Formats: sequence, C-alpha cells, structure tokens
Amino acid sequence: MQEQIFKHRETQILTVKEMKQDREAIIRAGQIIRQGGLVALPTETVYGLGANALNPDAVKNIFLAKGRPQDNPLIIHIEDASQAERYAKNIPPVYYELCRRFCPGPLTIILPKKDIIPLETSGGLETVAIRIPAHPVARAIIHEAGVPIAAPSANLSGSPSPTTAQHCVHDLWGRVDAIVDAGECSVGVESTVISLAGEKPILLRPGAVTPQMLKEFLPDLMIHEAVTEKLKEGVRADSPGMKYKHYAPKAKITILDADSREFTEYVNSQKKEGLFALCFEEDVPFLQVPYISLGKDETDQAKHLFAALRELDERGAQEVYARCPSKQGVGLAVYNRLIRAAAYQEHTLDGESEA
Ligand code: TXA
Ligand code: MG
Repeated sequence: MQEQIFKHRETQILTVKEMKQDREAIIRAGQIIRQGGLVALPTETVYGLGANALNPDAVKNIFLAKGRPQDNPLIIHIEDASQAERYAKNIPPVYYELCRRFCPGPLTIILPKKDIIPLETSGGLETVAIRIPAHPVARAIIHEAGVPIAAPSANLSGSPSPTTAQHCVHDLWGRVDAIVDAGECSVGVESTVISLAGEKPILLRPGAVTPQMLKEFLPDLMIHEAVTEKLKEGVRADSPGMKYKHYAPKAKITILDADSREFTEYVNSQKKEGLFALCFEEDVPFLQVPYISLGKDETDQAKHLFAALRELDERGAQEVYARCPSKQGVGLAVYNRLIRAAAYQEHTLDGESEA
C-alpha cells in the first residue's frame, strides 16, 4: 500500500569528516530539512531519518520512506533544554534536572505537547518525545535547519537500527534526499525513553542512560514490563513502538542464558546448517562454529549489536545462538533489543546442555 505512493528521490551523500572543513555538507543538510526534505543523519546513538518536525507533509514522508506505521510517534531533536518550552507544556522541574545531568545525550523525555507539534509527528498522541542529541554533526544540522528535527532511526521499519551511513545507504537509497556520513555511532543502541506525561514517571525503552542513573532524580521511576517481556495481548502499548516487530534479521535467533563454557559447549554440539554464534569476546577461543563477537563488556555489546544483526543476514546465517547479555547498565538495552530480534526465544542452560 505505502509502496504505491512512495516517490523515488535522488539521494546524495554528504560526508562530514571534520566539522570546520565540511561545513558545506552541514549547511546543505540543514537547508534540505528546512525546505521539507528528508536527511539521514548521525547521532551518538544511531543514525536518524530527519525531517522538519513542524511540517506535516515532510513528516508524512518519513513514514513512507521507512514503511513505518503512522501511529508510531517520532522523537523531535532540539538544541537545548529550554527549547522544549516551545513544543511542550506542563514541564515539571525534574525535566530540567535530568537535562542538566544527561543532556545533550542519549535520553528522550516525553511531555504533553503544544499544538505547534502536528499530530503527524506525535502519531496522533497528545504528547511529544524530546531529545537533545550530543553528536556535534546532529547538533550543527539542527542549528542550520532552524527547526526541530523529527527523526526515527534511519532503518526500514522492522530492520535493525543503522549505526553507520552504509546501513542507511542499504535501507534508504532512493528514499531520502541525503545521507550524512560521519562514521560509526558511538553508543550503538537508541536513546533511553522515559515519559513524564503520566501520573508516575515510567521508562519505556532502556538505553545508555540507565534506570540506576535515572533513579537518583526519579526515585519512583517505573519500568514498563514490555522492556523485558513480550507485551501481553490486550495490554496497552504506552509507547507504540513496543507493539511492532523489531530488529529482526532473517535468521532464527535463540538467546541462551549461560556462562561461557556452557554456551560454547552447547553451540559446538549443534549440527545445523547456517549455524552461527552471536557471542562475547571470552567465548571466541572455544567456538568451533562461525561466530560474530559483540565484544567484551556491555558498552561494546551495545555498540556492535545492530551491525552484527545485519552481518548475520549478509553471511547467510539461518540459525543463531546468542549469548544472553547481562542486564546491568547498558546491558539492559542490549537485552531489550536482542529479545525482540529473537522473537522472545530464550532458554537457560543449566549445565545439562538442554535448551
Ligand atoms: O536514539 C534515538 O532515540 C534515535 C535517534 C535517531 O535519535 N531515534 C529513535 O527513534 O530511536 P524511533 O522512532 O526509532 O524510536 C522512538 C521510540 C518509538 O518506540 C516510539 O514509539 C516512542 O519512542 N515514542 C516516540 N514518541 C512517543 C510518545 N509521544 N509517546 C510514547 N512513545 C513515544
Ligand atoms: Mg526505530
């Protein structure tokens, strides 16, 4: 349906290696957004698919380019905390405290919206998600555009989020006006999303700003059950993104909750075609099957997860066993993305090699 009205666009690559030298690219990206176009741009978390958040037609094109359901709201990206007053109302003091501590950075805060934010941007909701990105290129493009930038992750809906410009090229070539290439994203998983628009603050999506860090400011912060479990039938999705299939490569992924020895012994014992291990650095010396390592700690795993999910497809993986990440720190965000990629298939190995 959406494909039928989607119009082909000439995509240009705008490379930013050095902010001062590559100013032209930033000016051009800002201009395209101001004029109602679509630009894939880097942030510290993942690449975003940006358009003028105040222009309903431009925003509609984001949904078309991504193949995204229209009721899934977009995050607006602004330059500094006080700009939120133009777009949101009933802003509680803790918003400013959180911004002072964590912004610019990988935190998104949902507030009641003002009318200036079109319902296209908010997916029909009376709230707006606000983020102040830290990436200097993202910040410079917002500044040049002179408007808040609505930007979901710059992947096709359902695919892993992009952490390099090459991922954006793969998904969005011919669908956007420009792709700004500023190298690999440093965090690798999308921002933490919290809502301050309800009765109690609630964490809707974990990210690099962890619940432990937030609880210092929000002692009564709740964590939505969909963060670690499949949303039950009939339960309202407080964040519409929770309902949709996400991050899924073509391969079937099973998460194994196990230590390194149990994990590697189990995976080595499997005789399956297209078998891959999605493992940690410590597992590598013991694996006798093809593998992709996410690295040594939670920070590494966050940075490499989405690229690894894409690489599994490129290498023709069919059956993947993934080592279960710890849920500590940014590990909770890694776990949250991985269980979606695995369609909630998770088993515990208890030394019996029984999955
Ligand atoms: O790191 C990030 O947040 C990246 C970069 C580009 O900034 N953006 C991103 O956007 O991940 P997206 O659209 O892929 O994910 C935003 C999530 C979705 O799950 C959406 O449903 C939720 O935030 N969301 C946005 N606005 C909301 C609102 N008003 N109420 C509840 N959930 C909201
Ligand atoms: Mg996304």
